[in-house]
Amino acid sequence: MKKITIAANWKMYLDEVSSIDFIDKLNAEKELFINKDIILFPSHACIRSVKDHLNIDLKIGMQDCDIHNKGAYTGSTSIGSIDIHSCIVGHSERRIIYKENNDVIAGKLGTVLSSKVDPILCIGETLQEKNDNLTESIIDSQISILPKDLNGRKLTIAYEPVWAIGSGDVPSNEYIHQMLSYIKNRLKSLYSDTDLNNIKLFYGGSVDANNLQDLISVELIDGFLIGSASANFEKFKDIVKQIKL
Ligand code: PGA
Repeated sequence: MKKITIAANWKMYLDEVSSIDFIDKLNAEKELFINKDIILFPSHACIRSVKDHLNIDLKIGMQDCDIHNKGAYTGSTSIGSIDIHSCIVGHSERRIIYKENNDVIAGKLGTVLSSKVDPILCIGETLQEKNDNLTESIIDSQISILPKDLNGRKLTIAYEPVWAIGSGDVPSNEYIHQMLSYIKNRLKSLYSDTDLNNIKLFYGGSVDANNLQDLISVELIDGFLIGSASANFEKFKDIVKQIKL
C-alpha cells in the first residue's frame, strides 16, 4: 500500500501561542505521528517556535517564499532564512489575492528548486473557469512553468480546484481521478521515467477526517494538502489516525 503524505497548510490560522499549543498536544500523543509522512506548514513567523517545540521528527515547510534569496525586499521572506524541507508555490490564495501570475510562480519555483528545498506547486481551476470549460487549458498553462528536467529533484503537484478550497464542496472521486490522470499524462509528455518517479500528486480542497477515507481510494493520489482541518489539533489527529504507516 502506498504511503500517503499529509501536508498541513496552517495558512494564517495559528499565531505563535496557538502554534505552540498545537505542537504541545502533538508531542503528548506523539506515537500517533511517528513514522508518518507529515509536513507542517506554519506561518513564517511561527516556524522557529514550531521547530523548537517539536519532540518528534516531522518535516516543516514554508507556505510561500520570495523569488529573491537576499536583499532589499521589505516584508518578504527568503527561502534560505530558515532550514526547511518543503515550500508551497502558487497556492490559489497567492495567485488570486496577491495577484501572482505564472511568471512570478515560475520564479519562485526556480528559487525553491535551486535552494534544494522540495516544492509543492499548487494548480487548479476556479469555478468560473470550470463552468467555461477552461479547466484543461488552465492546468496546461499552470504546468507550462515547470522546468525541462528535474535533475534528480523531487516535485509535488497539488491539484486544488479553487472552488473546493474552504467551501466543503469536494469533487467526486471520478472528477479528481480524471484531473489527476490528465495532469499525469501531461507530465509523461514532459519528463523521463526517472523524473516521473520523483513527482508526487496531491489533492487539496476541503479535505477532512470525514472524507479522507473515500478520497484515499483515488489511485493517483499520493497525499493531501489540507488547510482548515489541519490547523485544529483534534481534527488533524482524526485525519492522521486514518493514515497507515
Ligand atoms: P482547505 O484548504 O483544506 O481549508 O480547503 C486547502 C488549501 O488551501 O490548501
